[in-house]
Amino acid sequence: MKWQPTPDALEKAAQLLKEGKLISFPTETVYGLGALAENDVAVTEIFRRKGRPAKNPLICHFSHRNQFEDFVEIPADHKSFIETYWEKGVSFVLPLKKETLISSKVTAGGSTLAVRVPSHPLAKELLEKVGKPVSAPSANKSMKVSPTCAEDVDEAFPDIPVLDGGACTGGIESSVVDLTTPQPKILRPGLVFPEADPTSSSEELKSPGLLSKHYAPERPVFLNITEPRINQAHITFGPGKKTDLEAGLFNLSPSGDLQEAARNLYRALRDLDQPPFKAITICPLPQEGIGQALQDRLSRAASKVNT
Ligand code: TXA
Ligand code: MG
Repeated sequence: MKWQPTPDALEKAAQLLKEGKLISFPTETVYGLGALAENDVAVTEIFRRKGRPAKNPLICHFSHRNQFEDFVEIPADHKSFIETYWEKGVSFVLPLKKETLISSKVTAGGSTLAVRVPSHPLAKELLEKVGKPVSAPSANKSMKVSPTCAEDVDEAFPDIPVLDGGACTGGIESSVVDLTTPQPKILRPGLVFPEADPTSSSEELKSPGLLSKHYAPERPVFLNITEPRINQAHITFGPGKKTDLEAGLFNLSPSGDLQEAARNLYRALRDLDQPPFKAITICPLPQEGIGQALQDRLSRAASKVNT
């Protein structure tokens, strides 16, 4: 149910969230499926509607850094890291305060909480109106590609109101950074690439959602393929390659801009995940900066592991 983001619609959406209903809203990364984080029933509904395993915790969204400081401990060593990245497409995993109103479903029973302040004006306005933490995973069914526009959300959850903010400018999810250790550790590379230690495979266990096959289209995905193959759609990057959906071709960024490629990646995976194509192939991508986040999402899409 797409809603134009008028002041009335925002007011209504905030009210419904406060009453324990689900509302989808745009952020600068992808669209989220929000529920009041203090409301056990509403949070349970998120897991049920997404088909998400209960052991996979949710990110809590706040309108300002001041707000999450009431819910999590801020380690002194990481104050400046938080100062730098709090509104920049980064989610922080921090120790949850002992006395908390946050539903234990949000943290999957754990002692940490992932917090994030979106920079998208509609998300901010909505969160301000609600005045309480809103847990919001990406607004897709579990294992599917994250939505980057209101239509994508509507397709998966036609009965849930989605505030239509147009296409997301970022296009891939936030970076998830663990700040419970002396050195910040990237659990999930994302939109912004903070200076932190990349995760090692054992640490990946700390972000349960990262273990499963994720972000996956229906069709098999093959990486590092340089030329289109018969009956298979092909994703390219850089000058000289065209976008032609009927021919199964999608250039993520003709100018070779990785930010633009991130913005288009999920769109491409969705648009090419159609008959008559039997698979999706993708050319090698540069590995610097956000390129690593793209590679991460693509390897998951291509992974045969399905846990
Ligand atoms: O950009 C985003 O982060 C979007 C928008 C809507 O904010 N949200 C999003 O949420 O991508 P979701 O649920 O699709 O992915 C959250 C990731 C999962 O991999 C989850 O396991 C991890 O963050 N996560 C959440 N809480 C955590 C925690 N306490 N410790 C470690 N990882 C956590
Ligand atoms: Mg997700």
